[in-house]
Amino acid sequence: MQLLLIIVVIQEKMKNSRLDKFIADNLNITRKQARSLICKGNITVNETIITNSNYQVTLNEDRVYFNSELLIAKPKFQYFLFNKPKGYITASKDRAHNTVVDLLPSYFIKDKIMPVGRLDKDTTGLLLFTNDGELAHRLISPKRAIYKTYIAKIDKLINEEDILTFKNGVELSDFKALPAELKTSEIGEYYAQVKICEGKFHQVKRMFAAIGANVEELDRISFGPLIKDIPIGTIRELTSVEVKELYSICNM
Ligand code: URA
Repeated sequence: MQLLLIIVVIQEKMKNSRLDKFIADNLNITRKQARSLICKGNITVNETIITNSNYQVTLNEDRVYFNSELLIAKPKFQYFLFNKPKGYITASKDRAHNTVVDLLPSYFIKDKIMPVGRLDKDTTGLLLFTNDGELAHRLISPKRAIYKTYIAKIDKLINEEDILTFKNGVELSDFKALPAELKTSEIGEYYAQVKICEGKFHQVKRMFAAIGANVEELDRISFGPLIKDIPIGTIRELTSVEVKELYSICNM
């Protein structure tokens, strides 16, 4: 599957990195491979060939080249919006199932870029990935009540009573869901749009089941301020404005 990566470089405060680490991080290779490139004289820093792997690179100041390619320091935290396809579980490793991580660049694991929350195996749509642990923690905290919007294909037509039931909080076997917004979707009469601020296991499917509807397809179209705007199976970096919006709703 083709992945679309739109890279937006977020400036980091000036700091140092060992040259072999810098090369390994940028080229997504091992430190050993990076040291080999350095020894072979493939790396220049500020127009001088450097063969010492210990060399300290001043990030965002030194100009480091691999042959003629300028390498740009990776930001400390990275943020990606992924449009998850069906058939993949939201986990990093699983013996029995394909996971979303199978679809993403291998450096996601190396850089600890993880999904924020979960979508079911058969759910499609917006999944945020980041290695910003504090932000991820706040976004999934029930205290924060971040809104998520889903489009569900269901097997019945929703009516005013269903809309009211969602608005008043659907009674489930183990808890009462917080008030949710339900409306018909312009996609078709068997499609409903639902906005919830919780993220419990199978929550949307269970809420529909409570009004006698079976969810045949489920697609997440928004998560807080983020809107799904890329084709299925593709990924893009968040813009700096989107990152700021996430920070703002998390009081960071
Ligand atoms: N609710 C569900 O039932 N499934 C999802 O994947 C997400 C929300």
